[in-house]
Amino acid sequence: MLDHIRIAPSILAADFTRLGQQIHDAQVAGAELIHVDVMDGRFVPNLTMGPLIVEAARRSTDLPLDVHLMMIEPENMIDAFVKAGASTLHIHWETGFHIHRTLSRIKELGCKAGIAINPHTPAIVLTEILPLVDTVLVMTVNPGFGGQTLIPETLTKVNQLRKLIDSQDLAISIAVDGGVNETTIGQVVAAGADTLVVGSAFFSTKFTPDQGMERLRTALQNYDVSQKQMAAR
Ligand code: DX5
Ligand code: ZN
Repeated sequence: MLDHIRIAPSILAADFTRLGQQIHDAQVAGAELIHVDVMDGRFVPNLTMGPLIVEAARRSTDLPLDVHLMMIEPENMIDAFVKAGASTLHIHWETGFHIHRTLSRIKELGCKAGIAINPHTPAIVLTEILPLVDTVLVMTVNPGFGGQTLIPETLTKVNQLRKLIDSQDLAISIAVDGGVNETTIGQVVAAGADTLVVGSAFFSTKFTPDQGMERLRTALQNYDVSQKQMAAR
């Protein structure tokens, strides 16, 4: 069960003076995706990267680039991000009048489509569009900044979403974004996530990427063992 859990380091927490090297190190450590946080200063109170960085990341790795668009009117920038090398584009449900159209456009361009939801947005609003998406990205913090604490209530939603997806017999990945670290990783996976975005607990630590990855995997393993022990009691 634990083997199919994918870790997606978020470069928001990387050292941008050596971004290429950091992405390379993450890949060598066993990262399966690279998460790129695009923020527009409107949808979220922070401003970060655009297609230029995606294009630089694309030249640094052959891993899939998971681009998280925290921006209003994402439909205007989709072509540019696909051209820059995005593998998956996550748009926020809260930003769209025409989510179906935007997701369809992403797929039409040959990119994987993801829908992201903020902590206050219920899973149920996704029912009609689930068949169109490859991934649901559940925000477990309010988007805008790295290094925040996971909001525990959002894990109930991850679980509801897992049930919703399984009830429709769909092969959709559930990614969790925000506050994933050695302490929370077990609960996040137990709730039903299969892809974990990890920013500050991966790049902004005293550990090397190899050690960071090992510590996350070990924490997950230990959680799994402790749950099994509790169940056997
Ligand atoms: C937050 C971003 C996250 C961020 C996570 O708005 O969407 O991807 O990088 O950072 P940590 O893991 O530090 O919470
Ligand atoms: Zn993100």
